[in-house]
Amino acid sequence: MTTIPDIRVATRADRDALRALQETSFRELGLAYYDEDVIESFITHVGTMDDALIDDGTFFVAVLDGLTVGCGGWSVRTPNYAAHATEDTPVPARPAATVRSIFVDPAFARRGIARRVMARVEAEIAAAGFERASLGATLSGVPLYRRTGYRSRGPLVVRLPHELLFVGIRMEKRFAHARTGLAPAA
Ligand SMILES: CC(C)(COP(=O)(O)OP(=O)(O)OC[C@H]1O[C@@H](n2cnc3c(N)ncnc32)[C@H](O)[C@@H]1OP(=O)(O)O)[C@@H](O)C(=O)NCCC(=O)NCCS
Repeated sequence: MTTIPDIRVATRADRDALRALQETSFRELGLAYYDEDVIESFITHVGTMDDALIDDGTFFVAVLDGLTVGCGGWSVRTPNYAAHATEDTPVPARPAATVRSIFVDPAFARRGIARRVMARVEAEIAAAGFERASLGATLSGVPLYRRTGYRSRGPLVVRLPHELLFVGIRMEKRFAHARTGLAPAA
């Protein structure tokens, strides 16, 4: 079933609801890919969102019937995980556009909400003049990103306290029509 949410720019008033949604999403949908202690440690020590993106106006909320059901954004700011990444995990060089914090409420998963958030985020990245986007994918996010045209660039490893490791994949997409200013490929 496909559901069509409104996608709007997030404001500071959305922050708590967004964080709650992100944590619920990662706890439930991430559990098929990560141990519970890794998810909890990641939430505590790395975090699911950088509030600065809200202030930058580059973070978006998916709203359905008044409910916050998804979110995501982009930035040229260094991702949160970078401070914890191992030496063999290169951090995107500025000013690379990075897709950030794509999350969907588990109750609304697999209805095309993340795909719509991604379309908005990529349109904004292209409108800002970038020809490609990169991201640090959780393993739970990889099927979505592959489906939306991202390709693997290597591992992403984050060191967490008590010798826990969070493993993801660095991915990248070059926009098909970047030079012509048209919308990015789906
Ligand atoms: C990853 C996530 C954002 C996907 O959200 P979603 O709204 O369910 O995704 P969509 O419905 O838009 O999926 C679009 C396509 O991506 C692929 N896809 C998405 N989730 C998938 C899954 N769990 N398994 C297999 N393919 C999946 C499918 O091809 C899907 O198309 P289809 O449903 O027509 O087959 C959501 O599962 C989530 O929030 N996960 C936990 C948090 C997380 O890991 N976020 C990524 C941070 S980097």
